[in-house]
Order: sequence, then structure tokens, then C-alpha cells
Amino acid sequence: MAQTSDFFAPQAFEADVIDCQVEGTIPDGLNGAFVRVGGDWAYPPKHADDSPFNQDGYISRFRFRNGRVDYTGRWIETERYRNNRAAGRQLYGYYRNPYDCEPEVANIDEPWRNTLANTNVEVNAGRLFALKEDAPPTEIDPVTLKSKGLFTFGGDYGSQTFTAHPKVDPATGELITFGYEATGLASDDLVLTIIDRDGAITRETRLKVPYVSMIHDFAITEGHVIFPVFGYVTDLERLKAGKIHWTWDREAPTWFGILPRDGEANDLRWFKGPNRAIVHTFNAYTRGDTVVLDAPIFDNNPFPFFPSADGSEWDALKSRALIRRMIFDLNSKDDGYREEILFPDLPVIDLGRVDDRFMGRETRYAYTSFNDPAQPIDRDRLGTGARRVINSYGVFDMHDRTMRSFYAGPTHALQEVTFVPRAADADEGDGWLIGTASNYAEMRTELIVADARRPDEGAIGRVVLPFRANVQIHGRWYSDAQLDFGPDAGMESQK
Ligand SMILES: [Fe+2]
Repeated sequence: MAQTSDFFAPQAFEADVIDCQVEGTIPDGLNGAFVRVGGDWAYPPKHADDSPFNQDGYISRFRFRNGRVDYTGRWIETERYRNNRAAGRQLYGYYRNPYDCEPEVANIDEPWRNTLANTNVEVNAGRLFALKEDAPPTEIDPVTLKSKGLFTFGGDYGSQTFTAHPKVDPATGELITFGYEATGLASDDLVLTIIDRDGAITRETRLKVPYVSMIHDFAITEGHVIFPVFGYVTDLERLKAGKIHWTWDREAPTWFGILPRDGEANDLRWFKGPNRAIVHTFNAYTRGDTVVLDAPIFDNNPFPFFPSADGSEWDALKSRALIRRMIFDLNSKDDGYREEILFPDLPVIDLGRVDDRFMGRETRYAYTSFNDPAQPIDRDRLGTGARRVINSYGVFDMHDRTMRSFYAGPTHALQEVTFVPRAADADEGDGWLIGTASNYAEMRTELIVADARRPDEGAIGRVVLPFRANVQIHGRWYSDAQLDFGPDAGMESQK
């Protein structure tokens, strides 16, 4: 649970800041919006040991235009948010367990109605979606950031759930997505759906998983999709007992399901390996009969709030992600695969990204955050609220196995990094790293802009909010060409 003194404590207000304070400069070409989604407790959780993933959704936007930046933050008004507001208290129990909710809002047969939409954003056909893996998208008005309700593609969408990490194929503009627990709580159905750039569903493939597991993210290549099935497990019995949705089974093998993008259910092939946690991926590609997946991967349970099935204590030391490459031979006679650790001495945060213009193709660079203990830290000014200090972004060269880093400062903790290309036709890796940092000394949020090719030269610009913004889970950058965010607030105020 969040301490009242730290950056994760509830903030619980909406905000508009016109013409934010900028230190340094914002690059000329950086026009568009950085949209972030995370959570906040509108009302305290019922259980002190609940997952922070059970916070109400909150969406915020840094709008960039000609060197000026406006900020907007709004609650995501799901059915659940509105029910709690009407009651003036928390009606919902443990993470993703309707059996633990107050009966009038439980929605046991329609669990997607309990979604918080608090994990990520994506755009398709001019629509902005807030996403969480337990429900269809929540549509958000990109101009006002007001919530418009669940979106099911005209009723055509065929799963109860929709991942928070769909992929956009850069060549076709297709949105490739899936839902697990697709036909009900703890169901072993997975539905893969392909949505064209105009918002029409063009393909749906219904699959079965080896066991019911968190499939938070996946990967695409030009020819395949890859689903990781790993240690977080659940079943109806557990949910009916009122427990938190996931438990970590250290005996559970890891499975990777690989399916040709145009394949049918019987084309799905499963590869099996030792217990791991693959919460997020970087990217993947197909070369001949080989599929390669790059991802930050844990050897153990990364989340202390999802308890171990065997009752063992959470082990922080074993819960560090290392950047790995999984190599699958589609011609092999057995179900094994090869695992390489690319940067063995460098534990990273697993919120990793690549240049999205090359999604599904071999990418040279991967971006994520990490703690660099060699950099200065100002413990006195950090205060006691700082639980962890992730002070650096890493630009990981997957060819040369080298890394260049950006250091945020002695009182700063970084959230997820995002790559923004310098221009639509720029080379891979030519652009900016952006993301928010928590400045613990000032207890305020700063958005950082650094050059992705020269990260070690420090920030080009910082957008300084006069308060600490809600902590994000994921954020994405959209250029003005990708989504119309309407007139910026500064322009509106001049009318
Ligand atoms: Fe995620």
C-alpha cells in the first residue's frame, strides 16, 4: 500500500496546466501528445495488501506544440468508477475478483464491467482507447479526455477481454490484439483479433492455452504472433474463495505459443521451457524458419502483491528482469527453445520499448529504465518516501551488446521510457526519449526529453509540473498526424 508521504500516495484530483514551465528547450519537431495511463485510488482499497493494479484509471496528456506544452489529467470514468462515486466508498474487492465485491456490483457473469481501464492507451481508426486486459477498450475523447464507455467495434468484437498491449503493424496499420480468459473468469480461451486501420475486424482466431495464466503482453512478427504463458495462475475455486486473482506457481513451466498470423487454431505450436515471468516484450521477428523474441524476463515472481502458491516469501533478489533473447526453431522436432541473456550484469525495469515504426521487424535498439548505482544519489533530499530509485534510461544496442544511458538526477525516479522518432522517415533510433520522472526532493513530476542517439549528454528539455502527477503504468506518443487532439488549451484560452 502507498504511504501517505510518497509519490504513490493518492492524488485524487483532475488537472489542467496551460503553458507548463519548461527548463531547457523542447525540440522544434516534437509536435503531438504524450498520453499516459495509470491508476489512483479514488477511494481506499478494501484490502491493504491489494495490488496497485486495482486502482481507478487515470489518463493524462502532455500536449506539445511549437515548444509549448499543456497538461491535462482526468479520471477514467468506468462503470466501476461511477458506482464508487455514487456510493462514496469502495464497493469492489481484491484485484479482478468479482466474488469479493459487494453483491449489487459484482457482475460475476459479466466481469468486464468491473474494469478500471488503467493500464495503457492505443489508437485505431481515429479513436483513443484506454486499455486493461480484463475488458474491451474504454473509448476516450482525445480532445477532452472524457470517457465515452466500453467500445466493442460495433458489437463485432468476440472476446470478453482485450490486452493492454495490442500491436500496430507498421506496414498495414492493422491493430493486432487478443484477449485471454476470453469467455469468462478463469476460462482457458484466448481470442486473437485483427482490426484494420479503419476499425473493421478482419480476422478472429479462437485458441486454447495450456493453463490459465496472465498473458499481459505478446509479440508480433511479420509472419507470426507469440503468446507467453507463465507462472501466474488462477482458477474459479480460488476466485470463489475471495482471493486476489493471481498466485505465483514456481513449478509452472513457461509456454510460448507461436501462430502464423494467418493461421488457424490447429496451426498453433507450443514451446515449453523453465519457469519465468514474461510480463512485457520488446519486439520479435521471423527469419526463415526461426522466430526470435527479445524481452526483459524475470526468473521469479516480479510482483510481491501476487502471493506464491506454495506460501514462500517474495524474493526481491530473484525478481529482477534481465534482457533476454528467446529463439524458436519452427523446424524442430521437440518443444524446446533457446534462451540467451544479452546483458547478464544489468537488471532492468521490464517496461521496455522499441521504435514502434519497426514493430515486428528486427530492431537494433531497445529502450528501458534501470538503476545505475554508479550515478550520484542525494539521500538527504530524496527523503524517506523514495522506495526505489530508477535513475537511468538505457539505450540497448542488441547488435553490439552495448548500452548508452541517460541519467535523470540525484533525486529522480524514472517511469517508463517512450521513443519518439525525429521524423516519420528517420532511421531506427533517431529521435527522442521521453518519459516522466518523479522528483522526490520537490515532490513534483517532470517530463524529460533526451536525444536517443546521445542520451549521455543529458536532458534537452524538462517540462515541470507544479505538483506530482498520477503515476503512470504505460504511456504512448502520438503525433498530430496520428491523432487529432483538437486545439491545445493555450490556444483555446486565447479565443
Ligand atoms: Fe503492461
